[in-house]
Amino acid sequence: MTYRLLFVCLGNICRSPSAENIMNHLIKQAGLQEHIFCDSAGTSDYHIGSSPDRRMTAAAARRGIRLRGQARQFQLEDFDKFELIIAMDRQNYRDILAIAPTEQERQKVRLMGEFAVRQPVLDIPDPYYGGTEGFERVIDLLLEACSNLLAAIAQNQDLQVRSTLPK
Ligand code: 4NP
Repeated sequence: MTYRLLFVCLGNICRSPSAENIMNHLIKQAGLQEHIFCDSAGTSDYHIGSSPDRRMTAAAARRGIRLRGQARQFQLEDFDKFELIIAMDRQNYRDILAIAPTEQERQKVRLMGEFAVRQPVLDIPDPYYGGTEGFERVIDLLLEACSNLLAAIAQNQDLQVRSTLPK
């Protein structure tokens, strides 16, 4: 069975597409493409159909990660389609929980900050209205959080990782 993972932020053009593409990069390195599927979405409809933000794309490219995808809005059906829904900040988390029909759906939602252990944060800070360093910080936080999240999923799902996950 494929384990399906959805990353959610506000616009789906900065943080969540970065998380999705970083995670796909790590999944490939670990040889787990057949086992884990990633997607991303935004709680808002502001940027539906847009490519990832140019500044975010440049920051990711500096770390060797290419950002692909087109923004879409989080849908009620996503609760059925995904095993795990990861919110980038507490506002996204509250917005997702606000439309969760039952406790079963609420249980699927977690905060990305939980997985950033080395640099503890509650929120992956929204970089949209800030400078270049904000986009760099998002990539730093996501690289660590995605690595820890992948290790947790691999262990939880009893998946064999091909090589040691980069720290
Ligand atoms: P994201 O960043 O939620 O990480 O994609 C944002 C993108 C757009 C806006 C806010 C945050 N906006 O207000 O348009």
